[in-house]
Amino acid sequence: MEDTNSKKILEIHANPTLDEVWDLCVRNFLYDQKKYVNEVLEIFARLGITKESKIADVSAGGGFPALNLIALGYKVDCFDGFATDLFDQNAKKEGQDVTCKKALWEELPELVSPGEYDFVFCRGNSFIYAGGGWSETSGFDIEKVRADYIKTAKIFAGMLKAGGYMYIDKFKDSELGYREKLATIKVGSNLEDLVFFSERSPESKLRKASVQRMAGGDVTNFEVKITYDLSKEELINFLKEGGFSDVEVINSEVPEEKHFDVWLAKK
Ligand SMILES: C[S@@+](CC[C@H](N)C(=O)[O-])C[C@H]1O[C@@H](n2cnc3c(N)ncnc32)[C@H](O)[C@@H]1O
Repeated sequence: MEDTNSKKILEIHANPTLDEVWDLCVRNFLYDQKKYVNEVLEIFARLGITKESKIADVSAGGGFPALNLIALGYKVDCFDGFATDLFDQNAKKEGQDVTCKKALWEELPELVSPGEYDFVFCRGNSFIYAGGGWSETSGFDIEKVRADYIKTAKIFAGMLKAGGYMYIDKFKDSELGYREKLATIKVGSNLEDLVFFSERSPESKLRKASVQRMAGGDVTNFEVKITYDLSKEELINFLKEGGFSDVEVINSEVPEEKHFDVWLAKK
């Protein structure tokens, strides 16, 4: 495992949630935010997305990269089923008067008009949770999971204008038995390592992922997220069944995205 983060130390309170540590790592360790946002702006330029365009982030989490884009003058409506407090706190810290609407993806059709958006973000490996697993981790019925992916893809396609695009990403199919030190954190006067891990079981089609806090020999686990082990081929098929006409891989346009494969899905 490459240890590129050992010199960076992040101070954090004693009982952070998984959402909080993920957001801190995303902002401080996993991305050069400026570089990443510049790459997104290049994609916007290629697609004709401007500061007048309507953009939605349907898995806004703590606000990366939506808050960065809002700060630059882009109109981004933010939604998330679970992590809304974190977004609002980050927005406040950055002096921005915006909030994230708490909405599960299945609730979005009640909140947005058909064809309202020019561009939708569903980033941060979020779409894999359309089959369940973010807040509950048992009882996967594979047929239901597949139906839920298609239903969610339809909802996202429904939000877009004809010809609009969705940025969507996913863990790499090559990810197997993965462990990565994300950061060193300082809790009080103690230093701990934050380690991301994932496990995939091709037989049961399940993927487990979480973060561990390691202090000397003591290991504390955050909740383990269990999802369907969605392959890129399945992702592309589900998006097409949901109403996207073309799904183009754009990894080469976002070199700062080192963690996930990235696609633009065109309605
Ligand atoms: C890994 S985070 C991504 C956060 C951020 N966009 C990023 O790029 O780092 C995934 C987000 O998806 C949200 N999410 C998961 N399942 C959801 C659902 N069914 N409806 C709405 N949001 C959901 C979670 O609350 C979480 O904030």
